[in-house]
Amino acid sequence: MTDPADPAPGRTPSPGCPAHAGAVRLSGLEYQQTPAQLYRAMRREHGAVAPVLLDGDIPAWLVLGYAEVGYVTSHDDLFARDSRRWNQWSDIPDDWPLMPFVGYQPSVMFTEGAEHQRRAGVITDALEAVDQFELAHTCGEIAEGLIGRFAGSGRTELIADYAHALPLRAAIHLCGVAADSTDADALVRDLRITLDTAPDEDQVAAYQRLAERVGRLIEDKRERPGPDVTSRMLAHPAGLTDEEVRADLIAILSAVQQQTSNWISNGLRLLLTDDRFALDVSGGRLSVGQALNEVLWLDTPLQNFTGRWAVRDTQLGGKRIREGDCLILGLAAANTDPLIWPEGHVGTENSAHLSFGNGEHRCPYPAPLLADVIARTAIETLLERLPDLELSVEPHELIWRTSIWSRGLLALPVRFTPAPR
Ligand code: HEM
Repeated sequence: MTDPADPAPGRTPSPGCPAHAGAVRLSGLEYQQTPAQLYRAMRREHGAVAPVLLDGDIPAWLVLGYAEVGYVTSHDDLFARDSRRWNQWSDIPDDWPLMPFVGYQPSVMFTEGAEHQRRAGVITDALEAVDQFELAHTCGEIAEGLIGRFAGSGRTELIADYAHALPLRAAIHLCGVAADSTDADALVRDLRITLDTAPDEDQVAAYQRLAERVGRLIEDKRERPGPDVTSRMLAHPAGLTDEEVRADLIAILSAVQQQTSNWISNGLRLLLTDDRFALDVSGGRLSVGQALNEVLWLDTPLQNFTGRWAVRDTQLGGKRIREGDCLILGLAAANTDPLIWPEGHVGTENSAHLSFGNGEHRCPYPAPLLADVIARTAIETLLERLPDLELSVEPHELIWRTSIWSRGLLALPVRFTPAPR
């Protein structure tokens, strides 16, 4: 029985602001394993917009409602993207763990208004010119190469050996780094360290090396342009500076890598653990495409996204939002909002989820299509090559990464009949 003197799990006394009474601390392993329960409890207690505390008890708002996330993302005049608007900066130390997500960078992600349109337009045009058949072909080759490394052994761990490795290589290919160049491996390594939080690796140093390598890639493409995203961004009539291209290329590389890896990982988990997909995927029950779509509704790679900052005092979901308050987009919670699924069952037939964001700053139009090509090719190639692939642990033994932001597995151990390399 719960001691009534104890705050409910995750609930904390107010940090002083009456608007944040009963705020929920967004950390703790139990939530990271079952965030859907957390969102349900928060919604019951606070409604569509909940007061939360980020690391170090920094207050913010988590927007849980589908309609409210839609409203915030389509009203840039009220909820803007430049994190320098935040009214909490004086309380945030330089080494704050969430700095990589909210610290201002001169990339498309933090721009607003006409400047955002200029930057996002360049990315859209550069991505739109990607030949999706060629990308699928390249991803198939990358997949074959990776599978060849473990096919003969009859077992592997799919997150490190496959789900993370493949989009990394696809991302640098898109940006014009030749797979056999010496820079390719170094870029892959530094990007992985930058985006992963392995305790024994120096993320700051890896990020600096990554930024230098991307800088050299830009110099190289200015001299020798090719049929790649980097060259197209440099040649774009909007006339981006090298610094702007560098910041946006890093944003693109990170997005391809982080979100697409988790999409593959969560799709594979669903395919390997749910009877509706069973092992008949290659034999034609529910398809890989249906599994990937279901994941976007129920286990979206980017659960919560930081965010938007209030331009002036306003109201949202019955809460008083102050100028400069931070709003976190609760994409996972919004996708499962009971107001859009009154029967309780989350339908997955359509693609009206918010997993790619919404409004001006949504994931730029061709990007979700490219992510789909990468994820689908990765999973289909794996299932074709290793058709009797199965988990080598019980489904309940699978552990999610300890992040309230992205949703992906720590490991996905599998076994299969050894196949020729
Ligand atoms: C499963 C894969 C992906 C997911 C779930 C995803 C999701 C998202 C989300 C939620 C946002 C923020 C939207 C907002 O602020 O309203 C975003 C922005 C962005 N994504 Fe993706 N993304 C994915 C793949 C990609 C890929 C493959 C690329 C590039 C090829 C990409 C490039 C970007 C960029 C550049 C932005 C910033 C847009 C801006 O601020 O204007 N994403 N993405």
